[in-house]
Amino acid sequence: MYRPFLGYKPILKNKWELEILKKANAIVMEILLYLKEEVKPGRNTFEFEEITLYLCEKKKVKPAFKGYRGYPFALCVSVNEVIVHGMPKKDKILKEGDIVSFDFGVIYENYVGDAALTVGVGKISEQAEKLLKVTEEALYKGIEKAHFSNRIGDISYAIQRHVESNGFNVIREFVGHGVGKSLHEPPEVPNFGKPGKGPKIEIGMVIAIEPMVSAGSYEVEILEDGWTAVTKDRSLAAHFEHSVAVTPKGPEILSHI
Ligand code: MF3
Ligand code: CO
Repeated sequence: MYRPFLGYKPILKNKWELEILKKANAIVMEILLYLKEEVKPGRNTFEFEEITLYLCEKKKVKPAFKGYRGYPFALCVSVNEVIVHGMPKKDKILKEGDIVSFDFGVIYENYVGDAALTVGVGKISEQAEKLLKVTEEALYKGIEKAHFSNRIGDISYAIQRHVESNGFNVIREFVGHGVGKSLHEPPEVPNFGKPGKGPKIEIGMVIAIEPMVSAGSYEVEILEDGWTAVTKDRSLAAHFEHSVAVTPKGPEILSHI
């Protein structure tokens, strides 16, 4: 998400709410994995929007992004240098070697599920392959720190450290976030920061952790459509996201099937 100030106080969830959030996120991931299988050279990015709308109807869920702050689609499809908020387009044709990120959310029984992943189109370069691997690994490094008694900065630092030690950069303009009845709740979960800093992580928190990583500079440019966020130097960018609950037993990934 962008960075409107959300406040600090997390909205903690009870067991019953976690069950609903688990269901919402399972549906999100099921649809994302379906989209992933449909990625091939020659497809235009609007086809994925159509598939998504069809699956939402079939599963009787509402897409969470459509209409959110005026975003016109159910799905964000971000190709190559597009970091996030790429809009589905009939004239954007995928070609071998591209990387494509799908970011998607649903509303199920008044609760929001939110997740994202990046995949390659056919055979991709070694650098692109590494970018996807490092970004996904960074997500899991972050998730590991989503432990009560830790702080948000511990998550941020783990992500940043993994990304930078592999020669890539984390995007600063967009951050992870609390998620529940709203798509964006406190606290913000930046992908850079210092261990031991930031809000305390508490049992009952649900946070969307979402590293966005550039193979080049972390500077961002927003295109004239007001949404599409690209790397200023047009280097490749990847994005992975899971919604995670903080339980007494540790972090639980809700967007796992
Ligand atoms: N996963 C993205 C986020 O958390 C989705 C927002 S796209 C929008 O910010 F269109 F809904 F804004
Ligand atoms: Co999100």
